[in-house]
Amino acid sequence: MMRCSDDVKRFVFLWTTLFLSVSLVLSGCGPESTSKDVESYLAVSLSLDSNNDLEPIQPIPLTISLDQQKVKLGDRLFHDPRLSHDNTIACSSCHNLTKGGTDQAYRSTGINGATGGINTPTVFNSGLNIRQFWDGRADTLEDQIDGPTQHPAEMGSTWPEIIGKLQQDQSYTKAFSTIYADGITVATIKNAIATFEQSLLTPHSRFDQYLRGDHDAITAFEKQGYALFKSYGCVACHQGANVGGNLFQQFGLFTDTDTMRDGVERSQVKTDDHENHRHMVKVPSLRVAVLTPPYFHDGSAATLPEAVEKMARVQLRRHLSEEEISAIVAFLHTLPGQYQGRDL
Ligand code: HEC
Ligand code: HEC
Repeated sequence: MMRCSDDVKRFVFLWTTLFLSVSLVLSGCGPESTSKDVESYLAVSLSLDSNNDLEPIQPIPLTISLDQQKVKLGDRLFHDPRLSHDNTIACSSCHNLTKGGTDQAYRSTGINGATGGINTPTVFNSGLNIRQFWDGRADTLEDQIDGPTQHPAEMGSTWPEIIGKLQQDQSYTKAFSTIYADGITVATIKNAIATFEQSLLTPHSRFDQYLRGDHDAITAFEKQGYALFKSYGCVACHQGANVGGNLFQQFGLFTDTDTMRDGVERSQVKTDDHENHRHMVKVPSLRVAVLTPPYFHDGSAATLPEAVEKMARVQLRRHLSEEEISAIVAFLHTLPGQYQGRDL
């Protein structure tokens, strides 16, 4: 029996929505549709472009209310290599905020030069994801932190070791006791880091300015890219404020991409119906995608045009022209936004 938690209900809801959207896309604008159909669709969607309520993508909130002392403490912890066993690797080693919140590497390097088995996703806007990790195995940002701190190929530490090191640093004992009655504990370390991660939003992108009514914030070519992104059905999966991160999908709906699925064999999306949900990955956010090559959970696409071409082929059974790929990539360039008031 399926446990009917809110999570499961949400999952089922998203699946139903996705199924309906994909069906609509396939019936209305499938591979057989003429370019005339597409043109008239584009005309309609462009004429609706100022009506935010009808858009599948929403702007990222311009401000978010967070305890700034916690954000500051979490920022320090996030950049502190003492969270790793040999004091060499910080969260920021793999999630570099000047590299789109990733290391822009095929695989990340942990302690002792160890490499992991899956591409590193961005931490920017991760607070907007419904769950964390490619397979969604962590419910919250707090839960996620147990993974990297203890993974032998990442930071290879233990909580007692981390707490012991932080307790030897007076500036940490002081900062923790000012904010938390309990001082330095697993829960307070996680809370500070997760609060910092929630601050990693990238609002005020050119695309968000456009959604908020500034028609000139994006060019005609970028608008064309967005129109294709909608009419071809990319939005069935990449949607919401994070342009992804809110549902799980297979990689390769139409084309057999078995070789690419190996990395998600261990998918643990929470449902009893495991067989039907094998190979499922969280649809990644495309907010800062232009900054985070290579692409896909296995890092198999080196460039964004390559990733876009493959998506259209394996998820939508579409072969895009060079021009269409360029337009969609141009649209993706309007999405990143700003962190701490500066363009990413
Ligand atoms: C050695 C590299 C490495 C280090 C160090 C590391 N991460 Fe990660 N991070 C990864 C990889 C790889 C994944 C994806 C793993 C997976 O999905 O199975 C990931 C996933 C995540 C995610 C989930 C994002 C999403 O969209 O699902 C968050 C959040 C995150 N890391 C935060 C952190 C924090 C906080 C730390 C420090 C405590 C940290 N990471 C340290 C490599 C690293
Ligand atoms: C049926 C759902 C679905 C549709 C439709 C879809 N995607 Fe995706 N997209 C995914 C999933 C799932 C992944 C992650 C695949 C993986 O890594 O295993 C992904 C990954 C991506 C990535 C790589 C992101 C990264 O950080 O690695 C890009 C870029 C992308 N999609 C763009 C598009 C574009 C453009 C379209 C339309 C042409 C599209 N997608 C249509 C589900 C979808």
